[in-house]
Amino acid sequence: MYNFTLRIPTIIHFGKGAISHLDELKGYGSKALLVYGGGSIKKNGIYDTALSILENAGVAVVELGGVEPNPRIETVRKGVGICKAEDIDMILAIGGGSTIDCAKVIAAGAKYDGDPWDLVLDGSKITVALPIFDVLTLSATGTEMDPFAVISDLSKNEKWGTGSPYMVPTMSVLDPEYTYSVSKKQTAAGTADMMSHTMESYFTKENADCQKYMAEGLLRTMIKNGPIALNEPTNYDARANLMWAGTHAINGNVGEGSQPAWCVHPMEHELSAFYDITHGEGLAILTPAWMEHILSEDTLSNFVDFAKNVWGLSGDDDWELAHAGIDALKKFFFETMGMPSNLRAVGITDDKNFDIMAQKACDGSKGSFVPLTKEDIVEIFKAAF
Ligand code: NZQ
Ligand code: ZN
Repeated sequence: MYNFTLRIPTIIHFGKGAISHLDELKGYGSKALLVYGGGSIKKNGIYDTALSILENAGVAVVELGGVEPNPRIETVRKGVGICKAEDIDMILAIGGGSTIDCAKVIAAGAKYDGDPWDLVLDGSKITVALPIFDVLTLSATGTEMDPFAVISDLSKNEKWGTGSPYMVPTMSVLDPEYTYSVSKKQTAAGTADMMSHTMESYFTKENADCQKYMAEGLLRTMIKNGPIALNEPTNYDARANLMWAGTHAINGNVGEGSQPAWCVHPMEHELSAFYDITHGEGLAILTPAWMEHILSEDTLSNFVDFAKNVWGLSGDDDWELAHAGIDALKKFFFETMGMPSNLRAVGITDDKNFDIMAQKACDGSKGSFVPLTKEDIVEIFKAAF
């Protein structure tokens, strides 16, 4: 296990009615920028509840709605402009990963003199940020307890992740009931995303048993509860287990000390950068193709553990077992969760951008489990096509 420093300062208020804790914002100033997406929070009532709590707490609100899935740098710039013009003290994001990520970079951009895209390209330029608060409405990204944000400039076909300790939320409200209204498509995509975060950390050569067994527990939680949430959207326990598992998948608990792979995410970010697809769907399509590509004598034992400890499979032949584990993952994504099973199914109908996307994914990859060349990545894209 390699050395690490883990600091997770986010206060989590978890459970039914946890939104009442938004009154704590008054301890951080008197004016908040409320950031939200395309309107789901108005339909399910969270918007009205939040505004009433903030009003009673004496916190004035300026609004920025309309954050896009795969949030755009243009919206970040708009938010930064409002913060600077309105003397905003703090940011409150209510929504999924896109809204919260957008809010994080707005919080950093509000304290930065240049263009916020600089902060997307280089997180080390973030040296201070406004305090960030959020009410999570979609279990998926783990942004509610991590330092990362992913922002796109689709005019350049670019989507990059950035990170800074200053972008870790100060407080996150996690009420599983707020995810009851998430569609089947987004429930499946969110489950695939949190599973991918866990698997990116799980596949490693590092002897980090503690992280490995935690990852197996998280994956089993997701595999059990994803289908329940899909079929019974208002099942509280399923939504709660998914929400808490998704938070742990990327908050450092399973990643730190274990030399994670993080190969599939850079590949998916290229799909979203060029085709604006749903992140979790891209991951579901690419992950089994990546696994089949890297399965070798050298990685066999990882895949045998995956088959046995995550999927509960058994058998005497290690190679058969390894393949059976990957097949179980495919069956879970494409049959149980009903997700699109190849790139054509998400509207990517030709391979003309594979070369450039593979080069960019290769440049952006921090993968260490099995390093991938540009040619490897093109092959994975083709296998997923
Ligand atoms: O915009 P609204 O109207 O709110 O609708 C959203 C959106 O259309 C809807 N939704 C969210 N909560 C809902 C709801 N609909 C009904 N009821 C609710 N309670 O769901 C749609 C998708 O929302 P989005 O925020 O885009 O989804 P997600 O949470 O999956 O976030 C995806 C973004 O996060 C990035 C992805 O790349 C992508 O840009 N990621 C962020 C990470 C991080 N910060 O650590 C890590 C991840 O790997 C990921 O890359
Ligand atoms: Zn992800």
